[in-house]
Amino acid sequence: CAQELRNIQSYHMNSLGWADIGYNFLIGGDGAVYEGRGWNVLGAHATNWNSKSIGISFMGNFSNSKPTAAMISAAKSLLADAVSRGQISSGYTLYGHRQVSSTECPGNNLWNEIRTWANWKA
Ligand SMILES: *[C@@H]1O[C@H](CO)[C@@H](O)[C@H](O)[C@H]1NC(C)=O
Repeated sequence: CAQELRNIQSYHMNSLGWADIGYNFLIGGDGAVYEGRGWNVLGAHATNWNSKSIGISFMGNFSNSKPTAAMISAAKSLLADAVSRGQISSGYTLYGHRQVSSTECPGNNLWNEIRTWANWKA
C-alpha cells in the first residue's frame, strides 16, 4: 500500500503536474490509513469541493471488488478522528465522488457501502 501510495503520488505530481498527491488521506487494502496531504492542506480531489471537504481515497477499484471490513473500519475511524480533532463538524455531510463530479468513482461496491453510513446524504 505504501508503494501504491507513492505510485499515485508520482502520477499526480509527474503526470498531472500537481504539487502533491491529491487526497488528504488514503485507505489501504491492509486496513491502514495513509496520510496524503494530511490535515489543514487544501486537497485536489474534487473540483469545486476541495476548499470545503477532506478527500479520502480508497486504494483499489471497487467496480467489481468490495472494500474489506478492515478498510471500512479504518475509514470510519478516520472520520471519527476528524470530528474529534475539530477538522470536520459532527454534522458533516459524507458524499461519494460521483455526487459532485461525473465519474464512476468510488465504484458501485464502495458506493453502496458508504451510502449506508451515518452522515451520508443523497
Ligand atoms: C475498474 O474496473 C472496471 C471493471 O473491471 C473497469 O471497467 C474500469 O476501467 C476500472 N477502473 C479503473 C479506473 O481502472
